[in-house]
Amino acid sequence: MITKNTIDAVFETARVEEVIGDFVQLKRSGTNLKGLSPFTQEKSPSFMVSPVKQIWKDFSSGKGGNAVAFLMEHEHFSYPEAIRYLAKKYNIEIEETEQSDAEKEQANEKESMYLVSEFAQKYFHNTMLTTDEGQSIGYSYFKERGFTGDTIKKFGLGYSPEVWDAFTKEALGKGYKLEYLEKTGLTIPREDGRHVDRFRGRVMFPIQSMSGRVLGFGGRILGNDKKVAKYLNSPESDIYHKSKVLYGIYHAKQAIAKQDNCYLVEGYTDVIQMHQAGIENVVASSGTALTPDQIRLINRLTKNITVLFDGDAAGLRASIRGIDLILEEGMNVKVCTFPEGEDPDSFAKKSTHEELEAYLKYNAKDFIQFKASLLVDEAKNDPVKKAGLIRDMVTSIAKIPDLIQRQVYIQETAHIMDISEQVLVSTLAQLVQKDIADAGKRLKEEQKAKALQPVETAEQPREKIDIMDLLERKIIEILLLYGNTEQEFEDIYIKYDEFGKEYEETERKTCKVYERIYLNLQEDEIEFTNPVFKQLYAYIINYYLENNELPVDTFINTLPPELQSIAADIYMQDEKYHLHEWEEKKQIPVKDKLMSVANYTGEHIADLRWLLLGKLIQDLKMQVSPEADNMEILTAVKDYNMLINYLSRKLSRIRSSFY
Ligand code: CTP
Ligand code: MN
Repeated sequence: MITKNTIDAVFETARVEEVIGDFVQLKRSGTNLKGLSPFTQEKSPSFMVSPVKQIWKDFSSGKGGNAVAFLMEHEHFSYPEAIRYLAKKYNIEIEETEQSDAEKEQANEKESMYLVSEFAQKYFHNTMLTTDEGQSIGYSYFKERGFTGDTIKKFGLGYSPEVWDAFTKEALGKGYKLEYLEKTGLTIPREDGRHVDRFRGRVMFPIQSMSGRVLGFGGRILGNDKKVAKYLNSPESDIYHKSKVLYGIYHAKQAIAKQDNCYLVEGYTDVIQMHQAGIENVVASSGTALTPDQIRLINRLTKNITVLFDGDAAGLRASIRGIDLILEEGMNVKVCTFPEGEDPDSFAKKSTHEELEAYLKYNAKDFIQFKASLLVDEAKNDPVKKAGLIRDMVTSIAKIPDLIQRQVYIQETAHIMDISEQVLVSTLAQLVQKDIADAGKRLKEEQKAKALQPVETAEQPREKIDIMDLLERKIIEILLLYGNTEQEFEDIYIKYDEFGKEYEETERKTCKVYERIYLNLQEDEIEFTNPVFKQLYAYIINYYLENNELPVDTFINTLPPELQSIAADIYMQDEKYHLHEWEEKKQIPVKDKLMSVANYTGEHIADLRWLLLGKLIQDLKMQVSPEADNMEILTAVKDYNMLINYLSRKLSRIRSSFY
């Protein structure tokens, strides 16, 4: 771990304009600097950097933040990667928290494995380009598949010669240790004491991490021998975790972010062929179902995935299951199929860039439409099948974390399947409750397994949970659940006409829930009273301010361990209880509840402000002394009372819309 000292030094030294200047051409504009947005393809500059405030703001994409946030957005670095990058740029020595000898050894070991893998990649690549065997077998194979020399170079493709130990010998000769050759699986020890190459007589596809390091290889046989497994892959190792890697992500990341969409295909060759056809935002799951870790990798770059399916139906059914997993991560899923007998590779190979782009554009369907279209014909005249299909669709919808989006899909499904929304909503409610209960159970079990102590014990023991606690907890819950959604909020202004008579004026404004909460609480300079929630609130708000969104699972991982379980707890377990209570209290159908996040938020902010202001007034009154003139205090009390009056009106207004 990088120490806090180093992080502080980096923040103190790094100048946002210098950091960004390495990537974007900036021109002076008043006190600010201006340039073309690196996130969109714009013609007139709307990307601003403020050297005074040390922040940047991209008005065309809404993104903004500090230097670190820029690197995370633009280079897709993780937080520690960004800090390391800046430390290097500014010659700041990186202090790491004391590593044990075992940890040090492990870090060295991984580094050695990376080096061996990098060497292997170069070896296979050069062997293909410079040896007779490599050229006549490996290179010509790729040529036959339609790959250009540039493509072969870009993806670092190679060839492993048909010799028992050509690579192992070469690597040992260059001083690489047998230990790491074996740990990466490139060399296999045999019982007779000999060491042989894992990959022999195959064309080689290096598998790279997001930041471009070689983690492992896929090696393909040259022919189409059905009796032999087509691919041999590197085994799982300390540096290669199949479930956490996506083939092509290194070459695709910029395009994914820029296009705000990621195409997902099955195979290495699909990725490469699509690149060659000019579609670069594409990655492969390497033939298996997508894992949550892989989805999160994409989630760092975009919220949108388009899954491309081969034209054979067998594969289709199997892969559809993966879609729910993507929805669960809060991503939007589209699906595009290819004509019978075609896959992205074959289709891209025979298409021009324009043709491929047009095909994808016109054939990508929303997952709901896709599911419906898949089965609707056979289910049309069969009520039982139709019911099953509808349930299937609602099951998928239940996986979507965003309530408003769920609502939109419910409407769409109701329309496509010709069924009332009400029925869908209640089916959905049942499923959601079950999901939440399951998640809560899972979480509890995980916590038990980890034997994590709840954080309260670290603070003063809290005797009873008071109303303030509950409210603060709810605000945090709202931030986690809905912070990123856009809502229309109502502000009431109390004005006076020319006769001095009071009247109300309302103004509607649309903004993100977290912005609303942040600004509202900041207005009164309100602070949370529960120290744990206060800390958590600060983390959440800072995260939102830096990233303008908050993927909860990623966020929770950035928290200090003692806050992680609290945050997870609020996020998961409380949802069921609170939503339920909310529903009962207001006597409103679930459907309306989905649409009233703004009211729900407004009510809780107003409640909290109301209570805190009451407290503040109490405190102020305590300060009134018989000797002083107390003018200042009394004016403050008067102002605060006005605010309380305002909040009371607001609360009664919000509440009256429910009863
Ligand atoms: N795969 C594998 N082992 C196999 C078969 C497939 O690991 N025996 C993985 C590979 O990552 C492969 C992906 O599944 O890229 C998709 O399989 P397939 O479409 O059969 O392979 P392609 O890469 O498309 O190869 P080709 O077009 O040359 O047949
Ligand atoms: Mn294929």
